[in-house]
Amino acid sequence: MKKIKQLFCLEMILWLIAAIFLGCGTASGEKSKKIIRIAHSQSATHPDHLGLLKFEEYIEKHLGDTYEVEIFPNEILGTSQKAIELVQTGALDFAVASTANLETFNDIYQIFSIPYLFDSESAFYATMKDDELMQGIFQATKDSGFEVITWFTAGTRNFYATTPILKPEDLKGKKIRVQQNPTNVRMMELFGAAATPMSFGEVYTAIQQHVINGAENNELALTNNKHGEVAKHYTYNMHQIVPDMLIGNVKFLDSLSAEERKIFQEAAKICTETEVENWDLQIEEARKTAKEMGVTFYEADVDAFKQKVLPLHQEILNDNPKLTAIYERIQEKNNQLKEG
Ligand code: GCU
Repeated sequence: MKKIKQLFCLEMILWLIAAIFLGCGTASGEKSKKIIRIAHSQSATHPDHLGLLKFEEYIEKHLGDTYEVEIFPNEILGTSQKAIELVQTGALDFAVASTANLETFNDIYQIFSIPYLFDSESAFYATMKDDELMQGIFQATKDSGFEVITWFTAGTRNFYATTPILKPEDLKGKKIRVQQNPTNVRMMELFGAAATPMSFGEVYTAIQQHVINGAENNELALTNNKHGEVAKHYTYNMHQIVPDMLIGNVKFLDSLSAEERKIFQEAAKICTETEVENWDLQIEEARKTAKEMGVTFYEADVDAFKQKVLPLHQEILNDNPKLTAIYERIQEKNNQLKEG
């Protein structure tokens, strides 16, 4: 099955490359249109996809003579990491990328991997809405051929496994999947588990075949990605509140006229608003569905988990000092929202 998926991905990638070289990036019709291709790793019911549908609708409503938008969900064009590379080269125009994957392209994204960086969801949202701060981060990868045009919420990441993880000691000797970046590997070591990096699409089978004991993610992983079928214990230890980013190819974005660029920005704004609106609703739904699947949700002593990984804050700031200003600005938001 995995082989078929890999062959299919390879075929799609070759097809995309051929399309670019043969100049087939246009739809047939009276007037030639550029096809804008967007890839992501979630299902077609996930909030990211619903946001992207609004993006598509807005672009086609205002620039429909020139552009046609096509969305490819479910890692159909390859893993999330691969999709970033395809946006870099221009084989794809846009992709949704996790900050964990972006970290391997630019270490500014390491900021979001810091566990317990945000004290609350409101501090997270205040940070994402801080345009001045975000512009610096969004533009940081321009030299690598892509930039961020907007963000999505990716919720709070928590542990889930085949046995209950109620305290940090329960992680001892457990193989837990992490996203493929060094900070998450280090975080898992500090938690006391054996970090097993792998791509998101491999997690279900890895749990099913007992290659790993569990993983960590938001609640939608249990339902949209069906991990709740194979891991029945989900614990709110709340180690990361993270965004996903919608990245775009720089050459393509720079080729837009000022008027077109404005429309793309408006579309991106609506895309984020739709995604965020749908997020909380879908999390509620996912909790109900997961319970019906037989998943048990546990509250945990969050502080016990936090103490294990707090040394990572200073470790990261020492290794990557350019994060200090961003880190301090986020701490201000944590404090303001605590006082408020
Ligand atoms: C979430 C997140 C993705 C990420 C995935 C993962 O689903 O939204 O961007 O890739 O977790 O754990 O790999």
